[in-house]
Amino acid sequence: MDNKLLIKTFEPRKENMLNILHVLQNNNPQNFLTSDDIKLVANYLNITYSSVYGVAKYYTMFSLKPRGKYVIRVCKSPMCHMIGNKEILQEIENSLEIKPGETSPDKLFSVEETECLGRCAKSPVLMINDKTFTALDKEKIKNILQTIRFDEQNIK
Ligand code: FES
Repeated sequence: MDNKLLIKTFEPRKENMLNILHVLQNNNPQNFLTSDDIKLVANYLNITYSSVYGVAKYYTMFSLKPRGKYVIRVCKSPMCHMIGNKEILQEIENSLEIKPGETSPDKLFSVEETECLGRCAKSPVLMINDKTFTALDKEKIKNILQTIRFDEQNIK
């Protein structure tokens, strides 16, 4: 759907900014907010470009540069760190041959580290786009990545 139509599904109120930014980012196949998106939100909410830009830059769930179709966000907060997020991250790095902050050459995956995802009791935790995966180990993450790759090859 066109972003100008999409934005109109929200009341033009400042408290809707985060939800609007989420929807616009999700509507971009490269999972990021463009400067046109920021301008659109600023005009719609009748606030400055820099106010919207500041919010988009502050929150780690938003990106101002292109990312892969699947954004993997690995929790790096204390509980996940103690239970073994390093092993999970290592498996992802080995499997995709990219490090946090990078996107795979096929533009399918980006990897990021993030603060607590709110599921500490089931550490280690990560999110892939909007879906949360808990109680991970190397085998589980390997299967998750293989499933995504398999599904993608069968879409083409
Ligand atoms: S510390 Fe990882 S989900 Fe809370």
